[in-house]
Amino acid sequence: MSDAPVLSGVNLVADLDAVTDFERKHTPYITHEPAGDKTRVNIKVGHYVAHPNMADHFIDSIALYVGDAVIARFDLAAVAAYPEVSVVVDLDPGTTLRAVESCTIHGLWAAEITI
Ligand SMILES: [Fe+2]
Repeated sequence: MSDAPVLSGVNLVADLDAVTDFERKHTPYITHEPAGDKTRVNIKVGHYVAHPNMADHFIDSIALYVGDAVIARFDLAAVAAYPEVSVVVDLDPGTTLRAVESCTIHGLWAAEITI
């Protein structure tokens, strides 16, 4: 069994102002808003630069993690033309969430937010 962390091999862009459009088009865009006494988390891919969604090149999943634990996962097909998902979570303020998207050609890309 590997000792590698669950999220190893994931591209995490630290500064969107210092990267290429290729990196921007793969980086998840995360927002959050109150949902009653819970928090709605929205994750979009293609917010910064549109990502193509063709039969052989598209976003096939978006997952949301707290630490190494996945708390939501969405599988997508190429017809999901504007990959965007939403989930309501019951987490303490100050919790850091990581969204990870999977491109069928370009691998895993992540972004983080603290709610
Ligand atoms: Fe891609």
